[in-house]
Amino acid sequence: MCKPDAVERRLVGEIISRIERKGLQITSLNQRVPDRALAEAHYAEHSDKPFFGELVDFLTRGPVVAMVVEGPDDNTFSLMRTMIGKTSVDDAEPGSIRGDFATQTNENLVHGSDSHEAAEREIALWFPAG
Ligand code: CMP
Repeated sequence: MCKPDAVERRLVGEIISRIERKGLQITSLNQRVPDRALAEAHYAEHSDKPFFGELVDFLTRGPVVAMVVEGPDDNTFSLMRTMIGKTSVDDAEPGSIRGDFATQTNENLVHGSDSHEAAEREIALWFPAG
């Protein structure tokens, strides 16, 4: 998902271009402003974190671009996580999306599912019609 800061900074094209140049396929794409219920469900695993409210405020402040990304093998979530870079802005490697474009951990441009199970759960949330 390209988060609101990616849309505001006009980085969606750059991010999509990197996904395509890697050789992965975007099989679904949808831009919308998520409501709080969707943002809270998306980040449910972080509901006990001190920054949860801030996280939901951030995700709902403007349009996001949700995508389903597929590749030839069953490791696409892992390839995407490498391309996205580490969560902490101090650790995000140059060459990754966050390493190249993000200066803050709370506004780090992109979210990527961290497992198959997470991908299935998140796809069902963002693309409920299938
Ligand atoms: P994401 O990969 O979308 O998953 C959870 C998000 O929480 C993460 O990216 C960051 O944007 C955010 N996050 C993680 N740690 C912090 C923090 N210490 N303060 C604020 N936001 C955070």
